[in-house]
Amino acid sequence: MAAAIALGLLPRSARVDEGGRLVIGGCDVEGLAETFGTPLYVYCEAELRARCGEYRDAFGVDAVSYAGKAFLCGAMARLVDEEGLRLDVATGGELHVARRAGFPATRIVYHGNNKSEAELRAGLEQGVGRIVVDSFDELDRIERLVADGLPAPRVLVRVTPGVEAHTHEYIATGADDSKFGFTVSNGTAREAALRVAKSDAMELTGFHCHIGSQILVLESFALAATVVADLAAEVARQTGAPVDEINLGGGLGVPYTADELDAPSIATFAATVRDAYARACRGAGLDPAPHLTMEAGRSIAAPAGITLYAVGTVKEIPGVRTYVAVDGGMSDNPRPATYGAEYEAFLPARVTAPRPLTVAVAGKHCEQGDILVREAHLPADTAVDDVLATPVTGAYCSSMASNYNLVPRPAVVFVGDGRARVVVRRESLDDLVDRDEFESEGD
Ligand SMILES: Cc1ncc(COP(=O)(O)O)c(C=O)c1O
Repeated sequence: MAAAIALGLLPRSARVDEGGRLVIGGCDVEGLAETFGTPLYVYCEAELRARCGEYRDAFGVDAVSYAGKAFLCGAMARLVDEEGLRLDVATGGELHVARRAGFPATRIVYHGNNKSEAELRAGLEQGVGRIVVDSFDELDRIERLVADGLPAPRVLVRVTPGVEAHTHEYIATGADDSKFGFTVSNGTAREAALRVAKSDAMELTGFHCHIGSQILVLESFALAATVVADLAAEVARQTGAPVDEINLGGGLGVPYTADELDAPSIATFAATVRDAYARACRGAGLDPAPHLTMEAGRSIAAPAGITLYAVGTVKEIPGVRTYVAVDGGMSDNPRPATYGAEYEAFLPARVTAPRPLTVAVAGKHCEQGDILVREAHLPADTAVDDVLATPVTGAYCSSMASNYNLVPRPAVVFVGDGRARVVVRRESLDDLVDRDEFESEGD
């Protein structure tokens, strides 16, 4: 029989009250579902801040960006600003949300493998701190925009170091066969850097690589650091100018299930990467070593979030399986269907109860593949109307959410000090038809 849900999968403010109910950030979790409805994304604000702080302490001030693609809204942008991190945005949309929340442009790192001219224009007009250039076409676009009178940006050249990260194929980006960046092994990365260095439309600030996400085996970072440091040294020799910064991206994995709880901590990750980086720079003859910067998404946001659902149906197929269906699914968490990602499930009102039932937690979408948890362990009396939670859903869930089957997207609530505040309201049915031009037909 499965034990109670491991508290290690929950934000560190999590505690179980005398009645066996889960409390996060001082708020009764089932009570949050009653107050704000389900499905509901709940973030522990203290956990988000603590993780930003761990990164800041481990890598130093002005060395870490939060990767907004993991989860971004105005409140998150403000929190990241308050914690003193930089912010990595990957589209004009993320840039807009960040700037609307007052995030300083100079601390924004602007990514994207196919930034449009309009997206680049917005970045240059607003004076983003760094543009991570990804293709020769993008260099052409920047040169045209600067020729039009926009300011020349500081640029990091994104390279693909040819390193296999041990993670899912769709979230591994550092190997040669990748849509991202300039390939190192065939000389394209060097060619791009030399072009940037010569161009009056850009300032070559350094290099960037990101080898993948949900990485639990850290050796790949050392390999990537060596490749990028060697490249930086070669370019510095050829241009005669030092390289200021090397950004080794993000990618630290987090435990999603109890058997992954020995995943490396932020501190271990930082010590490993810093050590490998120092060795790589020494080996490449880069002295002093360029400023090491990182971009963490999942390892800041994922463990701070849980998602709450209401159980709607329980279908037992004797000898086959029991499906417990909830009021959300692949629209609010596409990771299981997309990557085969694994999660756990539990009932926040009965956290310490034994969990003898093995079920599949299914969503409400019209896909057999809409399964949130393939093998969830739940209390024997799990029933319709119970609130069910999936932990570690703070990253790449709300940010990847869709309106599939025209299901409105959930609200996002931040909790802390016994208070809960809605930071993104629930989508309404009217929101779903807001862009629909049907009413204007025949006007
Ligand atoms: C360029 C870049 N930087 C940083 C990240 C953040 O990675 P993670 O959330 O795994 O830390 C990503 C994620 O895909 C990325 O593409």
